[in-house]
Amino acid sequence: MRVSHSRPPAIGDDKGEPSKGHASSDAPVIERDQQPATLDVCRRCALWHDATQGVPGAGPKHAPIMLVGEQPGDQEDREGKPFVGPAGRLLDDALQEAGVGRKDVYITNAVKHFKWTPRGKRRMHKTPAQREIEACEYWLAKELESVAPHVIVAMGVTALKAVLEEKSVRLGDALGKTLEHGGRVIVATYHPSFALRAPDAETRDSAYAAIVAALRQAGEIAARDRKRKPTRINRHA
Ligand code: URA
Repeated sequence: MRVSHSRPPAIGDDKGEPSKGHASSDAPVIERDQQPATLDVCRRCALWHDATQGVPGAGPKHAPIMLVGEQPGDQEDREGKPFVGPAGRLLDDALQEAGVGRKDVYITNAVKHFKWTPRGKRRMHKTPAQREIEACEYWLAKELESVAPHVIVAMGVTALKAVLEEKSVRLGDALGKTLEHGGRVIVATYHPSFALRAPDAETRDSAYAAIVAALRQAGEIAARDRKRKPTRINRHA
C-alpha cells in the first residue's frame, strides 16, 4: 500500500484551586521520586505542566501484544487517548494489513504527556529527553505488570529505549531482529510518524512495509505462544 497518508490540581495545593504547580519561580513542580497513584497528579518530570492531560494506554486488559509508541501527539493530548491522530490512522491500516486485531493489542506510549514547542498557533512535537523517558518508565512498568503482554512492539527509538531500559540502544541495530527482555519478546520497528513524514515516498513505503511486517511477526509469535502463561514481572521489585 502507498502511504499518503482540568489541569490537575497541583500537589500541595490545599485550597483545591486549579494551579500551574509553580514553585516560587516559573519552573513547574517536579518530584522525581514521586509514586503517583494516577497520571493526573504525576510530577515525576516537567511535562505535565504544558500538556492538557496525561494519556494512558488503551486496549484489552490482558492483550497478548503491547504496542509502544513515543508520546501522545497534539490530538492525543486533547482527546486523552493514544494514537487517535494521523499516526494512529496509519497504525490502524498497518494492523489490518498485518491481520492483527485490535482486540489483541494494548496501545500505549513510552512517555505519557505531550512534549511540544509553540510555532505560531501550532504545537510542534518535541522528542522527549532521556530523563523524561526514565521518569515515565514508572507508568510503563505498571502497564506491563497489569497487561502482561507476551510480545511488545517497540515503535521507534524512544519506545525501544523505554522497553529495553537501555538508553544507548539504536533502532537500526534492532530492526528485523527478535529481542528478549524481562521474559518478553520484543519486536522493534519504525514509528508510524516516520512512515508518514519521511521526505521521500520510497522511504515512507518501506517504513510502512516494515511496520506491517513487525506487527505480523508479533501476531504470529503471540499465536504460537498462546498457550504459555502470561509473564507478570514487576520491574521495580
Ligand atoms: N505518536 C505517538 O508516539 N503516540 C501517539 O499516541 C500518537 C502519535
